[in-house]
Amino acid sequence: GAGVAFVGSGSAQVKTVLSNEMLSRMVDTSDEWISTRTGIRQRHVANGDESLASLAAQAAESAIAAANMTPDAIDLIILATSTPDDLFGTACQVQAAIGATKAVAFDLTAACSGFVFGVVTAAQFIRTGAYENVLVIGADLLSRWVDWDDRTTCVLFGDGAGAVVMQACDRDRLLGFEMHSNGTMNGCLNLAYTPNSLPLVDDIASQKGSFTAITMNGREVYRFAVSRVPEVLGKTLFHAGLSASDIDWLILHQANQRILDAVAKRLKLPADRMVSNMAKHGNTSAASIPIALDEWVRSGKVQPGHKIAMSGFGAGLTWGAALLEW
Ligand code: ACO
Repeated sequence: GAGVAFVGSGSAQVKTVLSNEMLSRMVDTSDEWISTRTGIRQRHVANGDESLASLAAQAAESAIAAANMTPDAIDLIILATSTPDDLFGTACQVQAAIGATKAVAFDLTAACSGFVFGVVTAAQFIRTGAYENVLVIGADLLSRWVDWDDRTTCVLFGDGAGAVVMQACDRDRLLGFEMHSNGTMNGCLNLAYTPNSLPLVDDIASQKGSFTAITMNGREVYRFAVSRVPEVLGKTLFHAGLSASDIDWLILHQANQRILDAVAKRLKLPADRMVSNMAKHGNTSAASIPIALDEWVRSGKVQPGHKIAMSGFGAGLTWGAALLEW
């Protein structure tokens, strides 16, 4: 069939938990400041022996098992990440780790919108008949890229991975989507990489790539999110002939509880339909939506037939929404 179904979800966490209390002994902050401004109470932080590939593979295996499939049935793996183990891409390492022998695998970079963009990309391959079973993973280890001396950013982020399996079927369960970019606001949120820029002969000593930490204009990102997210969700619902009251669950990128509250209010969505788990995980970038989805599926809150709206937003700037039936 030319439709898309969502047939399994999975997620994975690294072991170490860093509480607000522990953070307040590292930088000048407090549990009170962090939890009232963001809703975050703790986050998971990877150890040296944990990798993006291993975490993504765990989430992937869990999603494939939930779909009652085996990895050799997967045709395509899309790994949404901004923190690959290898800049050439990490999706192939995941393919090898899970034994998805026939799958083609590639990374997709769209920061916190990566998972939504990945789901939409996967749907195009399924709808054209090119591929039948597609694994979409959102995974990030932002702890490797924050400046742990910068209290304005280090309190926000955590590590994690989540995944879904999408499959060809007769009745299309992807009811609508929207994707947007605004590169003129690129400077609001960056993870800049400075590669070797000098010809080798100029200065051998300076030929080391240098990495810089996440930088963010929090106010600008906040304003962007509370205006664009309700707008993109409204458009997506409208084009599907639905309204906010038809939604069983709204899963936003878990950046900040105040953003979630503002969006729910703007859409007049009852607060108990807004999915929130950032108290436990912090902002896990591309992983936040699939982790939240998997937790809501496994706890039985998401039932077959439920309508779920998802919206990712973040660096680029990028934002988008996908409306689906579970
Ligand atoms: N602990 C204690 N004080 C702090 C901390 C901290 N961790 N961080 C900042 N402060 C101080 C500031 O220095 C400032 O002090 P000052 O008034 O003396 O200068 C004061 O708190 C207020 O700082 P603001 O930055 O104005 O605080 P604001 O209310 O805007 O909250 C926040 C900051 C939480 C980052 C907010 O702007 C926000 O959530 N923005 C959205 C960011 C976001 O969601 N980013 C991620 C989306 S994209 C992605 O996921 C990659």
